[in-house]
Amino acid sequence: MNLNNLQQVFKEIFPDATDPVIVQAPGRVNLIGEHTDYNDGFVLPMAINAHILLAGSVRNDSEVHIYSIDFQAKSTFNLKNFIFSQEAPWSNYIRGVCAMFLEFTELKGMNIVLQGDIPQGAGLSSSAALEVGTALLIRNLHGLNTDKIDLIKLAQRAENEFVGVQCGIMDQFISMLGKAGHALFLDCRSLDYQLVPAPFTEAKIMVVNSGVKRGLVDSEYNLRREQCQAAVEALKPLLPEITALRDVCLEHLPLIEQLPGELSKRARHVVTENQRVLDAVELFKAGNIEAFGRLMNESHASLRDDYQVSCPQLDILVELAQSVPGTFGSRMTGAGFGGCTVTLVHNSSVAKLTDVILNEYYQKTGIMPKIYPYSPSDGAKQLN
Ligand code: GLA
Repeated sequence: MNLNNLQQVFKEIFPDATDPVIVQAPGRVNLIGEHTDYNDGFVLPMAINAHILLAGSVRNDSEVHIYSIDFQAKSTFNLKNFIFSQEAPWSNYIRGVCAMFLEFTELKGMNIVLQGDIPQGAGLSSSAALEVGTALLIRNLHGLNTDKIDLIKLAQRAENEFVGVQCGIMDQFISMLGKAGHALFLDCRSLDYQLVPAPFTEAKIMVVNSGVKRGLVDSEYNLRREQCQAAVEALKPLLPEITALRDVCLEHLPLIEQLPGELSKRARHVVTENQRVLDAVELFKAGNIEAFGRLMNESHASLRDDYQVSCPQLDILVELAQSVPGTFGSRMTGAGFGGCTVTLVHNSSVAKLTDVILNEYYQKTGIMPKIYPYSPSDGAKQLN
């Protein structure tokens, strides 16, 4: 993926357009804090060095013409009257962001070309990156002064209300505000955040794609959200002040045990995971990656056993990683039911871990995994 190619394609597709503004927005990998964002809880993701690039210029009419280099496909709509596209589903992220801007401002028509190298359907937030990139592009092209937090909320609403996926705010937040060399500790209730330098001189982050597309993810994701809400309602008679599972702490675990079957497990995951994030951030700051890694392992067990959003292939990847001396910790990352794992491994064990995963995962599953050596990267920005 390179800038010159994007500019060249833009000129070919839109020969009469003015020179485009170019923005990029990264995907993300979540280090710890899974399924906590929509419970008003805590997360610790990092932006990755894989991006969506968007080149765009304004037009004199109200039409939006989009060309995707990756899909080699066009999609066109009129800002005065447009709907969800069945033919070009990838364009809905851009349509959705336009729809959210149109609630408070007028927009000009635009020519847009896009290209990305974030693996799709792998749980690395290529859709959030597209929403965030589009939001920044539109703001900059129109000279608006919408601040970044509002752009993040707008991007999340595009996904919730236009695309129809009830995601939390983590992915859009990190795609916009990530920083090279840092993870981002976010309080998803107050939206207070802190960039935490990654103490990774002797360790690497390895992201492994299980090759399992996240099939069940939408229905199961929404079900988990409902179960968390039901757990809050069931706990309210005992803890009247709570509004989200974020407000429930470890001392309340005996009360959680009294909830009916699945609700009890779901709530236990969220409550223990929030505490793990708080502990993990302190360990991260102190550079204690051994203990940080142990929390990653615990997080995976909790997602597998209590939240039940893992799958056999993710469990195999995690177990293989954990079996290699020099692995500090490994867990599934993202919504689950497929997608990727994230592993923290000592530099001297990277080659061994790579070898074990490439050989043994294939032997056990018949799927060739993909390994990405991502490092913490900057959030969305304009490149020219
Ligand atoms: C998806 C959602 C996020 C978050 C994670 C699980 O990535 O988009 O908001 O809920 O799942 O932690």
